[in-house]
Amino acid sequence: MKISVIGAGNVGATLAMRIAESDIADVLLVDIVDGLAKGKAIDMSDAAAIVKHERKILGTTNFDDIAGSDIVVMTAGLARKPGMTRDDLIKKNADIIRSVAEKIKVNCPDALVIVVTNPLDVMVYEMLKTTGFDKSRVIGMAGTLDGARFINILSEKTGVPRSKIKTYVLACHGDSMVPLLSKTTIADKKITDVLSEQEINECVDKTKFRGGEVVQYLKTGSAYYSPSAGVLDILVSIKNNDKRTLAVSAFLTGEYGISGICFGVPAVIGSNGIEKIVELTITEQEKTDLLKSAEKTKEMIDSL
Ligand code: APR
Repeated sequence: MKISVIGAGNVGATLAMRIAESDIADVLLVDIVDGLAKGKAIDMSDAAAIVKHERKILGTTNFDDIAGSDIVVMTAGLARKPGMTRDDLIKKNADIIRSVAEKIKVNCPDALVIVVTNPLDVMVYEMLKTTGFDKSRVIGMAGTLDGARFINILSEKTGVPRSKIKTYVLACHGDSMVPLLSKTTIADKKITDVLSEQEINECVDKTKFRGGEVVQYLKTGSAYYSPSAGVLDILVSIKNNDKRTLAVSAFLTGEYGISGICFGVPAVIGSNGIEKIVELTITEQEKTDLLKSAEKTKEMIDSL
């Protein structure tokens, strides 16, 4: 299997390392900055004898090299700079998405595409539109990350191991994300039987702000260890055809009463990409929250 990772910055490079070290595939790192992808690829390859894998990791500035990729992961993009509005960022990153989408269309027309670039749901939509690929083949990574953050925060709060906490975090990747409390269990108990309403609200708010919290500490740059792990989860399910139900941003055609946008929902992920969107039974409040978040996503997409 060959996976191309577009963008050799923090998320892209960390992901390339995870892919090789988990023996998922050979990796091609692509970046517009001359030498960046190549230098990091050589550095990672030099570690292979110690961390013990035989995967090839190559770096390039040439998009033609992505030919033959089974999967392309899009991490390239700009971070928001002082003075830049949210709309400026959307437009700039959408331009980058469009230019990369054209290269994917030409060089690997049969690939699956995973998008990580923010604002996520808008960028997934743009990738889908520009490639013209089937909606099953364009997947946005956010829910696996937001879910892992919520689990970590709940684990710290309760002392229950992370592996014993289950949840889905759906909707737009941002302030309006919706942790599905009705589907959240802690050591097989309902979350509401373990934590008070106030404690739950604190954990939810902390989850929503987690990305911002990391940015505040880092000062330059944003999270990358957990986002790259969020992508790995999807890659593993594709590679092994696990058909696990993961929260991903997918194009909706009426599911959860939402149409025409890319949005975080649970979906069966297998070797064909998004094999089925799963419509869980959720509470009226959760439905309302999803619809509110969908409105915000639609406004962002319309702003393009
Ligand atoms: N083609 C290829 N690479 C590009 C392009 C392009 N058109 N435009 C920018 N890049 C590269 C940059 O040169 C940089 O190396 O994308 C990389 C982005 O890396 P970082 O700035 O380190 O950003 P990172 O932390 O990796 O985040 C990437 O993922 O989680 C999201 O919000 C985050 O949208 C951001 C993306």
